[in-house]
Amino acid sequence: MHAVVLVGGFGTRLRPLTLSTPKPLLPIANVRQLEHLISNLGSAGVTEVVLAIGFKPEPFFEAFPDGTCAGITLHYAVEPEPLDTAGAIAFAARHAGISDTFVVMNGDILCDVDIAALVAFHKGHGAEGTLHLTPVQDPSQYGVVEVDDSGWVQRFVEKPAPGETDSRVINAGTYVLEPTVLNRMPENQKLSIERVVFPQMVAEGVLAAMPTQDYWIDTGRPDTYLQANLDLIDGSRSLILSSVGANSMISSSASITHSVIGENTVVGEGCVIIDSVVLPGAQLGNRVRLERALVMGTVSDDASLVDCVIGEHAVIAAHADLVAQRVPHPDEAK
Ligand code: GDD
Ligand code: MG
Repeated sequence: MHAVVLVGGFGTRLRPLTLSTPKPLLPIANVRQLEHLISNLGSAGVTEVVLAIGFKPEPFFEAFPDGTCAGITLHYAVEPEPLDTAGAIAFAARHAGISDTFVVMNGDILCDVDIAALVAFHKGHGAEGTLHLTPVQDPSQYGVVEVDDSGWVQRFVEKPAPGETDSRVINAGTYVLEPTVLNRMPENQKLSIERVVFPQMVAEGVLAAMPTQDYWIDTGRPDTYLQANLDLIDGSRSLILSSVGANSMISSSASITHSVIGENTVVGEGCVIIDSVVLPGAQLGNRVRLERALVMGTVSDDASLVDCVIGEHAVIAAHADLVAQRVPHPDEAK
């Protein structure tokens, strides 16, 4: 079975981290997010993954030089220009010659949904498309779904205005689709699956949905990206991953609590790191204090960073004391 993974977004809300690394290639507890997602696809019997890339394909080629990820063969479908979600799915599916039932996943989510069960649900319903659904507190930033008792979608509203729907169940970003869905998507045309294709399928009564309660998080914001990392090291999930990456030099006098230290990092003497992610290549001087920080760059001696996001080429001065800052600021960074 094929899967198309959408990795073409700009990662705007995670800047400056995403200025140097596309969001799906950022590590979550020292494993690239895309690798988490593709392993889950692999355990459901997916054998080929098509990465739908809207722009800047090079980091993906470099990240998987042998053309495989988690043991699964990758195909790269690079759009001539970003085609939006449906345009990207159609481009990727045609590129890979998909002609059978296939899976689609947004590349910026992390979840434990049983994809084989989603495929079985889809086939059992004889649906043309099936969505995975998850409950959230505030659905305003998502595609909100109303579903009947037998699992057929009655309404799909992308980013609803306040009061537009009472449902708190959202599109969790994993779909099973029949190849006939491609007939709804003209070649090389910008098109949104959420705003155009799904509402059309709802009107025809051919879109099903399976709600589940298992782990799900959209990693697109600094707070949720941090949360996704910490959930993987503290036993919040059944999976517990290592919190220290290879080739990191951590001083024995550093105190590290509930944090992830990436590969090829330096953590100096007397550092205090709490609820933070030190990303690959980051360098922390001596006595640096991090609290709820995401750091890719260099932090000099005695600096303190609370609720901060530091990009790859940033250098934080000695004794700096920053709270809730992004460096470089996303508006100034190129
Ligand atoms: N290849 C390609 N080309 N990929 C794209 C493009 C494009 O032009 N535009 C967006 N994507 C990818 C993004 O990288 C992401 O993986 C996925 O498509 C969804 O786009 P986002 O921009 O992240 O959308 P969202 O987070 O606002 O909403 C989506 O996800 C929610 C769940 O997290 C929607 O699918 C919502 O309905 C859903 O609830
Ligand atoms: Mg998203």
